Amino acid sequence: MNRRMAAVNILEDREALAQWVAENRRAGRSVGFVPTMGALHAGHVSLFQTARQECDRVIGSIFVNPTQFGPNEDFQRYPRTLEADRILLEGAGCDALFLPAVDLIYPPGHQTVVRVGAVAEGLCGACRPGHFQGVATVVAILFNRVAPQRAYFGLKDYQQFLVIRQMVRDLGLAVAVVGLPTVREADGLAMSSRNRYLTPADRHQSLALYRAMTAAQAVYADGQRDPTRLEETAREVLTGAGIDRIDYVAVRDRETLAPLTRIETDPVLLLAVHVGVARLIDNRILQSEL
Ligand code: PAJ
Repeated sequence: MNRRMAAVNILEDREALAQWVAENRRAGRSVGFVPTMGALHAGHVSLFQTARQECDRVIGSIFVNPTQFGPNEDFQRYPRTLEADRILLEGAGCDALFLPAVDLIYPPGHQTVVRVGAVAEGLCGACRPGHFQGVATVVAILFNRVAPQRAYFGLKDYQQFLVIRQMVRDLGLAVAVVGLPTVREADGLAMSSRNRYLTPADRHQSLALYRAMTAAQAVYADGQRDPTRLEETAREVLTGAGIDRIDYVAVRDRETLAPLTRIETDPVLLLAVHVGVARLIDNRILQSEL
């Protein structure tokens, strides 16, 4: 049978996963891992496809991680679309899907967390207290259970990627963290599970994020190197489109996310805004030459 269309092996309990992991280890197969919260779209699929090219076996996880949501965030209404997800994964050549219950990840009495320092503290870390601690903790637990050689993350969640990379370095975890480009809709909106919260009017307004990044890129390419001016350029586009809840517009060092007074190497521009009930994030590395 063509392996690309083979059914995905659904692993729901600890033993089934442990057996799958042990089997691959015995056979000397490399494992690529894509952690997700489900409601999958082409952005997720691109991670699975790259894992498929680079590894002998590919496993994904779907776990809507309660510890990374704030008390007033969308944990309860986060989209859960398992059947559609399974079909998408089959088409992407995914071999196994880990679907843990909350108790498997956080058994009763769980009391250990992973807290990453400076890179996790500003931006989304400041707007969403506890968020990156929840992310780092769940990813560390998943890495230990799945024991992959490579793990795939989207650069759409740029700060999350840097936080995971830092955690892996600091804890000496034996996994290569791979960051892959943001997959966008034809009109530039970054794909996100949360885009389904957008009404048609919100969807129209959300295009301002891409326009804001493009405007900042244009003045950067023209030689503007003042971070504040670059941020203003992006912010004007957002407010001009009627976006009035802006969590941040920030030009930062692309490796550390530290604020910049002078730009010496190409920085990253990061945005987080609210459109309707959705909180949208996006980012772009500003390039002196395109
Ligand atoms: P989730 O939002 O489901 O995203 C899973 C992975 O898909 C992340 O690495 C994310 O960056 C990537 N992704 C999302 N949209 C993308 C896009 N448009 N293009 C490319 N990649 C994209 O991120 C999480 O889940 C969670 O925080 C998780 C890491 C699973 C921990 O709970």
